[in-house]
Amino acid sequence: MATRVIPVDPFDLVIFGGTGDLAMRKIIPGLYRRFVAEQMPKDARIIGAARGELDDDGYRDFAREAIEKYVHAKNHDKDKIRDFLKCLSYFRIDALGEDGWKDLARIVRKDVVQAFYFSVGPRLFGALAKRLHKYKIAGPNARIVLEKPFGHDLESAKVLNAELAEYFDETQIYRIDHYLGKETVQNLMAVRFANILFEPLWNSQYIDHIQITVSETVGVGGRGGYYDKSGAMRDMVQNHLMQLLCLIAMEPPAHFDPDSVRDEKLKVIRALDPVPVDDIVRGQYRAEGDDPSYVEDAENPDSRTESYLAMKVHIANWRWNGTPFYLRTGKRLRARKSEIAVVFKEPPHSIFEPQEGRRCNELIIHLQPNEGMDLRVTIKEPGPGGMRLMDVLLDMSFAEALGEDAEDITDAYERLIMDVIRGNQTLFMRGDEVEAAWRWVDPIIQGWIDRGDKPKPYDAGSSGPEDALMLMHREGRRWREITE
Ligand SMILES: NC(=O)c1ccc[n+]([C@@H]2O[C@H](COP(=O)([O-])OP(=O)(O)OC[C@H]3O[C@@H](n4cnc5c(N)ncnc54)[C@H](OP(=O)(O)O)[C@@H]3O)[C@@H](O)[C@H]2O)c1
Repeated sequence: MATRVIPVDPFDLVIFGGTGDLAMRKIIPGLYRRFVAEQMPKDARIIGAARGELDDDGYRDFAREAIEKYVHAKNHDKDKIRDFLKCLSYFRIDALGEDGWKDLARIVRKDVVQAFYFSVGPRLFGALAKRLHKYKIAGPNARIVLEKPFGHDLESAKVLNAELAEYFDETQIYRIDHYLGKETVQNLMAVRFANILFEPLWNSQYIDHIQITVSETVGVGGRGGYYDKSGAMRDMVQNHLMQLLCLIAMEPPAHFDPDSVRDEKLKVIRALDPVPVDDIVRGQYRAEGDDPSYVEDAENPDSRTESYLAMKVHIANWRWNGTPFYLRTGKRLRARKSEIAVVFKEPPHSIFEPQEGRRCNELIIHLQPNEGMDLRVTIKEPGPGGMRLMDVLLDMSFAEALGEDAEDITDAYERLIMDVIRGNQTLFMRGDEVEAAWRWVDPIIQGWIDRGDKPKPYDAGSSGPEDALMLMHREGRRWREITE
């Protein structure tokens, strides 16, 4: 199945932090793939910017290595890599200094789309925005792209938003949550709003509950110091899980345009009830064999930061009153998996004999490791022997549907960068969304601090703390297994 590719307009993309991990692992390989797909025009320019001493050729060597490492081997075409690298150059600059900015102003073209990717720590966001404005580098249609974390709490997010607003209009600010760039996440909107099948059932009358799981097998080693100041709530729930929750729960927007979609998402966040203490379970992984515990990884023996979080959340509106949303995320769990499971209610009356182990309809949206969807339905067990029922999965995995082309599913980053160039903000977070999310999260975190709340230990490689199972069991529900 060939994918239609519409080339974007010529652009200059300056990647501040162009030598960093994110640039090399995601941004450059993603742009290369778009170049191969002929979506990126040949006269586009990518300017890596950082403080390090490098020349253009040195930067291209870095980029070549990144492409060879992170792009699928079938796309390693020498000629294409050479042509792509011609679009790259390097510019030495310190976000906090004043040297070099006038030169950058001369280099960045005024007659093409201008995009500035802030692939640096958030403490530099304000400085970069200010200098892009001060040295008249960014024109009125320029776009800036910001990486998470977007603030540490409501106060810091407000300060950051206000700082950016001094120099850029909201329509120019692209706050990335790469979960929103995933094919399946957008498919969620297509499934909900382009089919008549699901939307009539998409409410508390027919949906028993919804589970959102983002589990990781890795610990926090290597970034323990950063993570320990953050924890699962700030690192995952406030952004990624919240965004998934919004897309699942929002009302159909009037149009598929950025503000219509984001208005509806914002309403969901604003409708979130405060979460009672008993509806949250926090955990910290223990040591296992030679593998360190969370507090060892974080190098903080007294740490009370959670590496695991499970919670039951209510959305106080007509559609969802009575349908809980269970969110769970954690490090060092049994498998790496991100999924949303929509668990429907039983039919109101059964004409069949009750049967052990039968489950309700479920729509499972897989985000990681493989993207796709499953729909669990009940059918008659084939063969003679009476009317016995069984559950089967209608598998809508992209790997099946697309065959070999499944490998070509666009990575979230490359899709989002192309959206930046096209000027489409639908899949980016608006400032008020980010603030609303912090407004809901902050009192929960403050409650933990006030109560001196300590996370529960859990075994590395498990599904998380026992108490998290109870969060479901006490209401006659159960989590889906964390397996790949
Ligand atoms: N890596 C990921 O997978 C990932 C995922 C999600 C979000 N993020 C976010 O993305 C941002 C970048 O992450 P990263 O992992 O790429 O970080 P990184 O590997 O530490 O790279 C930081 C980059 O910023 C440059 N830099 C640092 N200080 C600078 C300054 N004063 N002026 C100009 N350039 C400066 C560095 O080069 P020089 O030192 O040579 O200047 C380097 O190119 C962070 O905000 C991070 O939280 C990263």
